Amino acid sequence: MKITNICCIGAGYVGGPTMAIIAQKCPHIKVTVVDLNEDRIARWNDTNLDNIPVYEPGLGTIVGESRGKNLFFSTQVDKAIDEAQIIFISVNTPTKTYGSGKGMAADLKYIELCARQIARVSKDDKIVVEKSTLPVRTAEAIKNILDNTGNGVQFQILSNPEFLAEGTAVEDLLKPDRVLIGGDTTPEGQKAIKALVDIYANWVPNDKILTTNVWSSELSKLTANAFLAQRVSSINAMSELCEKTGADVNEVARAIGMDSRIGSKFLKASVGFGGSCFQKDILNLVYISKSFGLHQVADYWEQVIIMNDHQKRRFSKNIVSTLYNTIADKKIAFLGWAFKKDTNDTRESAAIYVADDLINEQANIAVYDPKVTHTQILSDLDYLETRTTDQNKKFITSFNDPYEACKNAHAIAILTEWDEFKEYDWQKIYDSMLKPAFVFDGRNLLDGAKLKAIGFQYQEIGS
Ligand code: UDX
Ligand code: ADP
Repeated sequence: MKITNICCIGAGYVGGPTMAIIAQKCPHIKVTVVDLNEDRIARWNDTNLDNIPVYEPGLGTIVGESRGKNLFFSTQVDKAIDEAQIIFISVNTPTKTYGSGKGMAADLKYIELCARQIARVSKDDKIVVEKSTLPVRTAEAIKNILDNTGNGVQFQILSNPEFLAEGTAVEDLLKPDRVLIGGDTTPEGQKAIKALVDIYANWVPNDKILTTNVWSSELSKLTANAFLAQRVSSINAMSELCEKTGADVNEVARAIGMDSRIGSKFLKASVGFGGSCFQKDILNLVYISKSFGLHQVADYWEQVIIMNDHQKRRFSKNIVSTLYNTIADKKIAFLGWAFKKDTNDTRESAAIYVADDLINEQANIAVYDPKVTHTQILSDLDYLETRTTDQNKKFITSFNDPYEACKNAHAIAILTEWDEFKEYDWQKIYDSMLKPAFVFDGRNLLDGAKLKAIGFQYQEIGS
């Protein structure tokens, strides 16, 4: 089957960048990205490429090259589905906040709505690709909906999880470690797999394109994220022990990372992992394991989340106790709010939870993040439902200038590892702060010796 028209439902952090790269690498394919959110689509179409809704280094240029040629952003979901041979589903699958599985299972209502819409609109055979991370066996549910509400149209469901990490999305999409495609073992399933393999083969070497059955593909994505998150929780667990024993977690990480069986990546101690995937996917794994009665398996993975929550809480507790057990009315500057550098995404960012703890102690939080807006910060805090918006507004302010954020502060907390923080004039910052001036480096980013020489009371994680 020659593919000339594809669409993607969901113009978010996964759908947007992935489709931009497919469009760039496959000029013969018309790629339409659709979303219900009109504002989001308008921003993807903004003539100023600095305004596209997802910040990723290099993405603006790539969107600019193809947009209007073979890459389109639109709110006309039905039309895009009707015209496409392959439909990628890339909508959000947050953790359920209600009903059975609350706080654990993925909320599949958006996926189900998409499936019903595809079933209603399609007039010819389609390949439907799960791009969002989904619980194992979601493909079965999608297939059920498509086969039973459609108009005799044949659907093939593929699982093609996206492994890109935010902040490095463009690089990860251009040079993926692997592309995983799961499909049915039937001849029709294999034909569908081949159609998708042929798209990726435009830029990904064949030996990096893995094909499996649908369930292996779905479970591999959850497993990869669980293993990565587990490494962060493992090193964070050691960081607390390091603080008690006089070991330095950075040295421990370097020493163990040189063992080729362990490897050096993902061993950076931090205030805790964030992002839309790790916690959600592990909760999913825990939920699935429990539903099969595998309680030891569930408890094993749940511990990764328990450790991560502990690490965030421990960071805020340490700020309170170091500042003489009272931070009421004290200004505490936050450098960084995004869950990692080079993204404007704040989902599950450790900064949100640390701020929540410190606001409970009535501290005044002054935030500077190069890419996150004040509206987003407020909405992140509102989402926790600890306080009303008006109460949050009293305790949190945002600054466009980091030096202003730090002026007259008692302490600075580093919550995101933005490179620019390393380049600041730290002497100037020190001079503008109340003394003693503290830095709590939640990312082990700054040169501690230099800061101590200036006069800061500097603390990093795990030493
Ligand atoms: C992750 C997976 O890496 C990616 O393959 C998947 O597609 C989506 O989930 P992402 O959440 O975008 O990607 O970012 P990632 O780089 O994995 O970082 C996740 C969190 O872990 C961040 O908060 C990061 O700061 C933290 N982290 C990562 C650490 O604290 N220490 C580390 O050593 C690595
Ligand atoms: P991800 O990080 O997985 O890309 P995002 O939340 O950034 O998640 O993006 C998901 C997008 O999917 C959102 O912009 C949302 O508006 C969109 N979306 C959700 N349901 C539908 C739907 N039924 N039709 C079209 N778009 C949808």
